[in-house]
Amino acid sequence: MDNLISLVNKIQRACTALGDHGDTSALPTLWDSLPSIAVVGGQSSGKSSVLESVVGKDFLPRGSGIVTRRPLVLQLHKLEEGSREYAEFLHLPRKRFTDFGAVRKEIADETDRETGKTKQISSVPIHLSIYSPNVVNLTLIDLPGLTKVAVEGQPDSIVQEIENMVRSYIEKPNCLILAISPANQDLATSDAIKISREVDPTGERTYGVLTKIDLMDKGTDAVDILEGKAYRLKFPWIGVVNRSQADINKNVDMIAARRREREYFSSTPEYKHLAHRMGSEHLAKMLSKQLENVIKAKIPGIQSLINKTILELETELSRLGKPIAADAGGKLYSIMEICRLFDQIYKEHLDGVYVYKFIL
Ligand code: GDP
Ligand code: NA
Ligand code: MG
Repeated sequence: MDNLISLVNKIQRACTALGDHGDTSALPTLWDSLPSIAVVGGQSSGKSSVLESVVGKDFLPRGSGIVTRRPLVLQLHKLEEGSREYAEFLHLPRKRFTDFGAVRKEIADETDRETGKTKQISSVPIHLSIYSPNVVNLTLIDLPGLTKVAVEGQPDSIVQEIENMVRSYIEKPNCLILAISPANQDLATSDAIKISREVDPTGERTYGVLTKIDLMDKGTDAVDILEGKAYRLKFPWIGVVNRSQADINKNVDMIAARRREREYFSSTPEYKHLAHRMGSEHLAKMLSKQLENVIKAKIPGIQSLINKTILELETELSRLGKPIAADAGGKLYSIMEICRLFDQIYKEHLDGVYVYKFIL
């Protein structure tokens, strides 16, 4: 299964390298047929915190206000125990980051390179891969937080622009939606639930994550939500307790935060009976499992799409004839690249299917 997930990672990177960001329909895209997991929610609902604890690393720019202004496609690759962990950006090939503070800075700098040092947003994603013994194989997409009003320095249109960008990712039928809602706000006002219900009315691919359970008013609890009684989703809700701003300021590390989160659910009387399916570690495991299931179900479809595309490209190539170096502008070059790529992917894909059958 690891092979299939890493194949998906490769194809997604290739699509971006070829100028297909999954947000335009320039090519009837391979990207469209591949599963991904997108994190959506209102600003400061805890999206970055959830992503970081799924990864088990502090590396995302955080803060109040609009920090995430470009989609971040985050690919996690599991390494063997004892391996040194590192990160790599698609736009900086061969540069290995071992300092995750530097990763955070590069995300911020690369955001500014595309948008200028403004509060503008861009739909061109940043691709980041993290290799570590402490992660499960996953592809996650962090999206800018949904807002209700434009702030100083932003055009009024920004509210709608962010919503459209978020929707362009999560409306794809192959996108698993991680809908982040804070427990200290009324669920009826949740931006995450609102937009995911819009694109996924039956909840087939929406996973509800409830953050800030520790910040609820005294005398209230989230049991009704977590048991699916307040708002029913097809998949069970997962509650998490992330680090508070005070914890972040005190540099409470991830390991300590996860331990405390486990203790919180197992020792709070209201949540004890739910503890086995709460917390960020459970969330990470569940996501990996779901991604596997989706990829398994998609294998025949991806295969026929790859076959079809190879055929179409071959036809187009023979019509164009051999590219002449002097004239080989961007378009021809990309067709050649795509061909080579698909050929390679196709071979690897067959290996993947073989492994898959072998496991079954
Ligand atoms: P984002 O804007 O959705 O990415 O939200 P962040 O992850 O940056 O979180 C916003 C603020 O809420 C930060 O100060 C976090 O420390 C805090 N926060 C997030 N989740 C929790 C939680 O579960 N409990 C507590 N106490 N604070 C949280
Ligand atoms: Na924020
Ligand atoms: Mg954020």
